[in-house]
Amino acid sequence: MPTPRELLSARLRDSLTARELDPARGEVAQAADSRFGDYQTNAAMVLAKEKKTNPRQLATDILDKLDVSGLAAAPEIAGAGFINFRLEDSFIASAISSLATDPRLGVAPAAKPKKILVDFSSPNVAKPMHVGHIRSTILGDCLVRVARFLGHEVTADNHIGDWGTQFGKVIYGWKHFLDRDALDRDAIAELVRLYREVTRLEETDENIKRTAREELVKLQAGDAENLAIWKQTVELSWREFEKLYDLLGIKFDERLGESAYNDALAPLCAELEKRGIARESDGALCIFFPEIPTLDGKPAIVRKSDGGFLYASTDLATIDYRVNRWNPDAIWYVVGAPQALHFQQIFAAAKMMGIDGDLRHIAFGSILGEDRKIMKTRSGENVGLAEVLHEAIERARKILAARTEALPPEEAESTARLIGLGAVKYAELSQNRLTDYVFSWDKLLAFEGNTAPYLQNAYVRIRSIFRKAGETPDPATPILITAPAERALALKILQYAETLPVVLDDYRPNILANYLYELANTYHSFYEACPVLKAEPALRASRLILSDLAARTLSHGLALLGIACPERM
Ligand code: ARG
Repeated sequence: MPTPRELLSARLRDSLTARELDPARGEVAQAADSRFGDYQTNAAMVLAKEKKTNPRQLATDILDKLDVSGLAAAPEIAGAGFINFRLEDSFIASAISSLATDPRLGVAPAAKPKKILVDFSSPNVAKPMHVGHIRSTILGDCLVRVARFLGHEVTADNHIGDWGTQFGKVIYGWKHFLDRDALDRDAIAELVRLYREVTRLEETDENIKRTAREELVKLQAGDAENLAIWKQTVELSWREFEKLYDLLGIKFDERLGESAYNDALAPLCAELEKRGIARESDGALCIFFPEIPTLDGKPAIVRKSDGGFLYASTDLATIDYRVNRWNPDAIWYVVGAPQALHFQQIFAAAKMMGIDGDLRHIAFGSILGEDRKIMKTRSGENVGLAEVLHEAIERARKILAARTEALPPEEAESTARLIGLGAVKYAELSQNRLTDYVFSWDKLLAFEGNTAPYLQNAYVRIRSIFRKAGETPDPATPILITAPAERALALKILQYAETLPVVLDDYRPNILANYLYELANTYHSFYEACPVLKAEPALRASRLILSDLAARTLSHGLALLGIACPERM
C-alpha cells in the first residue's frame, strides 16, 4: 500500500507533467507544523527559482492541474509559495483499515533490495569491550534489523581484533603467571591482568621485553605452542563476548576476525606493488593519494619496513575477500569517528584496486560521563560493556520493586532485563550518532521523557486496555475519525511506513526512535481526549483498533531498535 506521501507526490508529479514542469521536483514532505496541514511541498518555489518566475503564481498554475480527490482537501498556497495538503478523514480511515490486518504495518520492502555487509561490534580479544564497542554493537545491530526488514540481504560480520602485537605479552604472561582459576572465572579479566603485568615488568626488565617480542615473532611464524595459546585466548574471549551478545539478543552471521586474513596479506601487498597502486617509501610499502586533497601527504602504510603488516593491510585484504565472496552492493563499517582517516584511506585504496561498491564509514561520537568528559570508571579506566549492562538491569530491578504493583519474582526478573537493556540501547539509538552524548542513569531509566521505559510503558498501558476490554476488535470494523486527537493518532500510525525507510538514508536510528516517541505522545493525548472503553459500541471498536495499531507499531519499531516490550511493568 503506497504511503500518503507517495500518493500525494504521485499526484503532484502528474500535475507538474501536465504543466510541462520537471516531475522530478514533485517531492512532498510531512508538514513541519500541523496547523498548516499534514503535508507540504516547496516544488513551486524550487521550480520558480529555476525558471525565474513568481513562485506564488507558479503554485497557482500547479494547483489548477492538481487533482487530489479521494486523498486530500483542496490544497492551499501559503507563504512564499508552499503548497499545503490536508488529508481527507475518509482517506485516513480507510488507510487505517487496511493496516489493521497488515503484519508489516504498511511498510513496503525496498524497491531495489541490496546485498549489504555490515561490519560492527568488532571488539578486541584479550581486552574488555569498552563503550566505543557498545555504540558500534547497538547501532550496528539496529541497522542490520532495519535493513533486513526493508528486504535487503544482510550479512552481519564481527571483525574481531584477534591478531596484533599485544599477543607477545599475553603469551609470555600465559607461560609464566597464568592463574587458571581466575581464567575460569573471568577469562578477559585474567588476560588483561597478564598483559598489564608483563607491560609493568618490561619497564625494568629488558630480558622480559625481548622474550615477549620473541613470543610474538614465534606466533607469527606459526609456532605450534604459541598458536595453541593464542587460539585459547581467542576462544575464551569470544565466550565472554558471546555472553553479552546473548544478553543483548544480538547475532552475527560471520565472525571473520583479523586473523582470518593473515595469509592474504603478503600476496595482496605484492599485487598492490605490481599493479603500481603501492610503492616503497623509506623501506615501507605505501599507497599515496595525491589526487585526493584531504589525503594528500597522508599515505596508507600497508607493510612496514620490518616486513610487518598493519591495520590498513588487513582491512584491504578484508574488502578484497568480501567482494570475492559476497559481491555486496554496500559494506557498512560501524566504527567510531576517530577512525575516519583510516577508512578514507582504505576506501580510496579499494577504489584504486577496482572495487566500486558503496563503502560507508558509519561513524559515531563518544559517550560522556555526567562530568561531560569521556566516560571512565572511578579508577580512570574505560567503562566495560558488561558492567554497564549489569548495572542497568540492577537499577531497573530496584525501580520495578519500588513501583506499586509487585510482579511475581520470575516476571520481575525478566522485566528488569527488558527495561535495563532497553534503556541502555535506547539511550544510544535516540541520539544523533555523530554527537557525543552524556550517559546519565537517571535520565535513561526515567519513565517520563524520550526513554525506553516511557515507550515500553506506553505499550504496556495500551495492552492493559485490552485486558480490561476482554475482546479484540474485528479488523473489519469501520474506523471513525471524530476528534482532532483521534485523527492525529491515526495519521501518526499511517506515517510509520514512510518514516522507517528514512533511517537508512543516513543510517540514523534516531529517526525511528523520535517517531516512536511522538507516537507514544500522540497516543497519550488521544487517550486523554477520547474515551475508549466507555465510548458507544461503534466508536469503542474503532478506538480499540487504533489502540491496537498504536501498540503494534510501538512494539514493532522498538523491536527494530533491538528492544523488547514486557506485557506488564
Ligand atoms: N577492532 C577495531 C577496534 O576495536 C574495530 C574494527 C572495525 N572494523 C574494521 N574492519 N576495521 O577499534
